[in-house]
Amino acid sequence: MSRAVLQARGIGMAYGTRRRPVTALHPTDFTVRAGESVAVVGRSGAGKSTLAEILLGLRRPSAGDVLVHGEHFCGHARGPRAHLRHVVQGVPQDAGASLPPRVPVRRSIERALLRLGVDGDPRARLARAAETARIDPALLERAPHQLSGGQAQRAAIARAVAVGADVVVADEPTSALDADTAAGLADALLALPGRTGGALLLITHDDALATRCDRVFTVREGKVEQSR
Ligand SMILES: Nc1ncnc2c1ncn2[C@@H]1O[C@H](COP(=O)(O)OP(=O)(O)OP(=O)(O)O)[C@@H](O)[C@H]1O
Ligand SMILES: [Mg+2]
Repeated sequence: MSRAVLQARGIGMAYGTRRRPVTALHPTDFTVRAGESVAVVGRSGAGKSTLAEILLGLRRPSAGDVLVHGEHFCGHARGPRAHLRHVVQGVPQDAGASLPPRVPVRRSIERALLRLGVDGDPRARLARAAETARIDPALLERAPHQLSGGQAQRAAIARAVAVGADVVVADEPTSALDADTAAGLADALLALPGRTGGALLLITHDDALATRCDRVFTVREGKVEQSR
């Protein structure tokens, strides 16, 4: 078996108040390994985005911890550790809004590479990442609001690849796209583990897409179970 890149240890989430907690995610353990694709399916409101946000360090869980390469990344007691942030990268549904506004996408990604101290020439690195994300490099000269939803998602994939993410978490990336664009984006995402050696965690309502992943987890009312 390949090495574990992401480990969830008892992560759970309760919203609401201390007196009236509403459990969105029951304590959950799982491991994502290098080179694998994992789908997370489940009905609306089941807790999938809550799970994704916790894994990305965007939401502090009410219980448990997330480990990246065996090292503590984030958890109930502590926010995400900055030096591990780039290892787990998200491709949100509204990817355009997650990129810095008004700045050409190329510039914001190259700045991120410099800030993170990523090895190599940023321009060359981003050119390779754009190829992996299957985005026309000319589109990276535009500001995020000048990109379509599908193009912005590819830009987000390029950013994740360029910064050297070992886990890409995509939360329903295809649900706002037309069928052709969705199929192209799904292909680009599913090809990521093979190209980068990292892992893909794909949250989707599309069962056909989920079956193309190596493993499938189903979330039912906040309980995560491996279904395949
Ligand atoms: N900030 C919040 N405060 C209170 N409750 C929340 C909050 N965010 C989510 N919830 C609740 O947590 C539960 C899980 O929500 P979540 O967004 O994780 O579902 P989901 O599986 O991603 O759904 P969808 O498929 O519609 O995106 C829902 O009952 C939701 O109402
Ligand atoms: Mg959701």
